[in-house]
Amino acid sequence: MRLDVFTLVPHAFAWLTEQRPVAAVLGGELDLRLFSYRETTPLRAGEVDDEPYGGGAGMVLRVDVVAAALDDVYGGVPPHRVVALSPQGRGLTQDVVEELAKEEHVTLLSARFEGFDERIVEHLCTDSISIGPYVLSNGDLPAMVVLDAIARRLPGALAAGSGEFESFSAELDGGLEYPHYTRPPEFRGWRVPDVLLSGDHAKIERWRKEHVR
Ligand SMILES: C[S@@+](CC[C@H](N)C(=O)[O-])C[C@H]1O[C@@H](n2cnc3c(N)ncnc32)[C@H](O)[C@@H]1O
Repeated sequence: MRLDVFTLVPHAFAWLTEQRPVAAVLGGELDLRLFSYRETTPLRAGEVDDEPYGGGAGMVLRVDVVAAALDDVYGGVPPHRVVALSPQGRGLTQDVVEELAKEEHVTLLSARFEGFDERIVEHLCTDSISIGPYVLSNGDLPAMVVLDAIARRLPGALAAGSGEFESFSAELDGGLEYPHYTRPPEFRGWRVPDVLLSGDHAKIERWRKEHVR
């Protein structure tokens, strides 16, 4: 899939693109492009936001700035999904991630300060997504959360077998994964459940099913 992110800080995504699973699918299943509103802003000196009509604190990302960025890359409002990252959006769940991962092309828009001029969400976006009921300083961490969650669902992102039995997956009936343990088998008197050390795969499978949370 192609994922385009519009942001004020494209370089902030560098760390994530060096890590698995994003690094594993980049250039293959995932074509990630990062665009800065500043590169195409029609305002002078790279300005992108302005004071809110009606007064109040903070700055608002301008509709003409976002429209210019979309015009530059797509020649207008694109036919594919354009998602505003916003605390007012639909909550991000694994179902929403699965839905996004099936798209061929998705655009994510990040804002900062007071957020988007509402006309951006109404006229330039198809929908908006919130990563949770709390406010972050800008949409870049939310964009990275969405990017990472999508990348995990793309073919080749994870080692075979490690992506299926995950929390929220259909394989676990949408539940939370069972607990994991590794060496040592005992630490400060805290023992790993005997069944997991037994080598009896049928019993281990049963134990795991019983311990889905
Ligand atoms: C400081 S927030 C704006 C908060 C907004 N004034 C409000 O009260 O809802 C700036 C930007 O960060 C991003 N953002 C902050 N929290 C978010 C969340 N929970 N989910 C998605 N995006 C978020 C959005 O792009 C938002 O426009």
